[in-house]
Amino acid sequence: MTTTNSPGLFIAFEGGDGAGKSTQASLLADAMEARGLTVLRTREPGGTPIGEKLRSLVLDHGHGHIDAHTEALIFAASRAAHASQVIRPALERGDVVLTDRYIDSSVAYQGAGRDLGTDVVRTLNEWATSGLQPDLTVLLDVDPADGRRRRTAGDAAEDRLESEADEFHTTIREAFLKLAATRPDTYLVLPAHLPVHELAAQILSRTDSLLATARGAA
Ligand code: TYD
Repeated sequence: MTTTNSPGLFIAFEGGDGAGKSTQASLLADAMEARGLTVLRTREPGGTPIGEKLRSLVLDHGHGHIDAHTEALIFAASRAAHASQVIRPALERGDVVLTDRYIDSSVAYQGAGRDLGTDVVRTLNEWATSGLQPDLTVLLDVDPADGRRRRTAGDAAEDRLESEADEFHTTIREAFLKLAATRPDTYLVLPAHLPVHELAAQILSRTDSLLATARGAA
């Protein structure tokens, strides 16, 4: 459907913890299916059997200290498997792929949050995915304090990254916004505190115009 990932459409949902990415990915998936499209919903870290193992290694407490380089490499390894085994094949079939997090999460959390450097983390991940980029990144911009309230309201215990201080989450928020500002044509940035249905309508409208452009080009 699009030029980059022809014939499929690849959309990544990004944002801080508690931004509501999964809710929005799920609503968009329903809307795309209602239009007769085949949708693959997936997430990172994870999305493959090896990726799910790597997810628990890097997110669960209890594996001892994980240094920043090791952390970045585990996320990149999970992403490499995800891109080659799941995302690319789905795009080649012509599916709509919706992923909860992708490369920008590593650039923001490991590159900026862990201070490894955003350029080097981007390069590592572009290598890991052989350059596979989303057609659109939906960034749900969340205030760190709001994000913490929203995710703890659901009770679930915080994972290793979520339990970092608000300052860490503020750095991440700024990094995401900076990424979006460098390529505004491929981002849709929305304040996460808007009502769920309003966010969903804006995301659907942008996706529909991408689909229309792709069909026009085909
Ligand atoms: P996520 O699956 O979004 O959390 P949830 O448990 O709420 O569904 O992400 C798990 C955590 O991993 C989140 O704090 C962000 C972090 N993360 C990174 O630090 N780097 C990455 O590359 C990715 C994909 C996630």
